[in-house]
Amino acid sequence: MGELLTPLETLLVLLPALAANGSPVLIHRRGTPIDGGRRAWDGRPLLGAGKTFEGLLLGFANGSALAALFSAATGNPNLAVWGSAAALSALLGDITAAFIKRRLGLPRGAPAPILDQLDFYAGALIGLYLAGAIVHVATAAMLAPLVVALHRATNWAAYKLKLKDVPW
Ligand code: CTP
Ligand code: MG
Repeated sequence: MGELLTPLETLLVLLPALAANGSPVLIHRRGTPIDGGRRAWDGRPLLGAGKTFEGLLLGFANGSALAALFSAATGNPNLAVWGSAAALSALLGDITAAFIKRRLGLPRGAPAPILDQLDFYAGALIGLYLAGAIVHVATAAMLAPLVVALHRATNWAAYKLKLKDVPW
């Protein structure tokens, strides 16, 4: 069982997930690939060089820091736990999507509409649920287009700043 989040709590736990997801791009072609260059049974990269330990750590650190800040500001200790869980699971959602993309034969950085924009969001919602924080299905669905728009805008900005090679 879990606790149904209020709209404010929902915002304050999803922002750390967004921060976590947006952080790894700062690693920009450096970093140690999580898959160590290994390939899967299909001969294709397991995850690809775009998923690194440094990106994972940076994302988790930033997301957790933001969660701790929101927790302190509101005096709600749960927000630190939930926000950190959302940040970590958002990053794991992105890694899962990379695994799926590679199995579909899509190289690193190839666009996968919907999957690219919502992988981390789905991950965050699942992680929150496992941590005992429930985002109402209607709220989650209502926020999805906003998450997609925000993801597109930040990725475009990262592309313009030459942090990313592609604008998605
Ligand atoms: N990144 C990282 N570690 C992660 C996630 C992302 O270092 N765990 C960095 C990589 O430099 C990556 C960039 O952030 O290229 C942008 O992330 P994303 O768009 O998710 O990766 P893509 O390059 O599009 O690769 P993929 O097709 O595997 O999603
Ligand atoms: Mg991508």
